Amino acid sequence: MNDSYHRLFEPLAFKHGPQLKNRFAMCPMVVFAANEDGTPSQEDLDYFRRRNQFGDLLLTGAITISEHIKGHPQQLSIASDAAIPAFAELAAVMKAHGGKAVAQIQHPGREAAHGYKQTGKAYAPSSIRFPFLPYQVTELNDDEIWGIIEAFGLAARRLMQAGFDGVEIHGANHYLIQQFFSAYSNKREDDWGGTLAKRMNFAKEVTKAVIKAARAENPQAIIGYRISPEEIHGETVGYTLDEALLLIDWLANMNLDFLDVSSAGSGNFSSNAYKAFPRISAQQGAINTIIRTLLNNRLPLVISGTIRSAEEALDALNYGDIVAMGVAALSDPDFKAKIAAGKEQQINMNVAGRLADLRLPSGLIAVYKQGVALPQVEGLLTD
Ligand SMILES: Cc1cc2nc3c(=O)[nH]c(=O)nc-3n(C[C@H](O)[C@H](O)[C@H](O)COP(=O)(O)O)c2cc1C
Repeated sequence: MNDSYHRLFEPLAFKHGPQLKNRFAMCPMVVFAANEDGTPSQEDLDYFRRRNQFGDLLLTGAITISEHIKGHPQQLSIASDAAIPAFAELAAVMKAHGGKAVAQIQHPGREAAHGYKQTGKAYAPSSIRFPFLPYQVTELNDDEIWGIIEAFGLAARRLMQAGFDGVEIHGANHYLIQQFFSAYSNKREDDWGGTLAKRMNFAKEVTKAVIKAARAENPQAIIGYRISPEEIHGETVGYTLDEALLLIDWLANMNLDFLDVSSAGSGNFSSNAYKAFPRISAQQGAINTIIRTLLNNRLPLVISGTIRSAEEALDALNYGDIVAMGVAALSDPDFKAKIAAGKEQQINMNVAGRLADLRLPSGLIAVYKQGVALPQVEGLLTD
């Protein structure tokens, strides 16, 4: 190995015991391969078997906590104990080479397009007519909100029983937890909205429920939280970076093991802005640096965003503690192995002609062919 990359191979100990052998992580990515009942399919297993040495921290794509609340028909869901054995197979495949398997748990909220198709309902904090949705959402009542918080805990318990090393709470990318935090999506006047403090309550209650349930199964559970650092779309402001920092500060004092900053959209791991819109904040500098300074070693920071080469992975360690990759994990599962062998020049981001070897699920390829807005994978559409 070229000596300059040794920092990527330094271990990291989580607060609750488990250790990572290196700083490589696989981003959470839905790969649209699940069986109709939400359990992992053979394609899911093959896809992860091909990538279980990509990094030491391996995240599943978003797993919904409810069978009838899915964004896509082939999204994973863990809605009952009956699904535990199937998820145990996935956990075993992910852990086969000593990597830590962490399951991302999610409620899509208004984005549950498939759930809407099945049940005629997609739930949200407030019943707003969102211009980008072809359906009207249904406002959650207080009992339903507490039911969802409980369901997050149940999902965490089931995934720990299935043998996962931990869970990541999906608080990012415009799904239900973010919808509650967003002043754009949340117009409630009860305990769950109206002020910044109340907009944080749903995220806080979900976090407490998940920590309690996961640690009851395994005191060493690795528990993380993924956040989008701001929600700004031109004139529309869901929350600013400064508001997100208040939630992050609260999370940093909880019994968590890592914070994962989502960089979806145009974000790069070193960006000063999350999307193309100017930041609303008094803070200067890269978003991840601002967050890392606030964390002040209370939690390790997982970062991601257009890391496609060994040099970029190394540079990312100047902004965070764990380097997570999405497209690079889809395109070259041997990314880390190539760096370890001094062959980083052979890292290949073009998947053309390599689809069978890469074990990319057919549903994932179909979604890309439909032109869904996801980070582009070079060569996928030309293969
Ligand atoms: C196919 C695909 C599916 C994704 N699904 C999820 C998901 O389930 N949960 C999530 O938090 N982010 C998801 N993302 C975003 C990635 O986790 C990551 O933040 C993004 O791709 C940027 O990193 P990259 O440039 O290394 O790909 C997905 C990205 C891709 C490409």
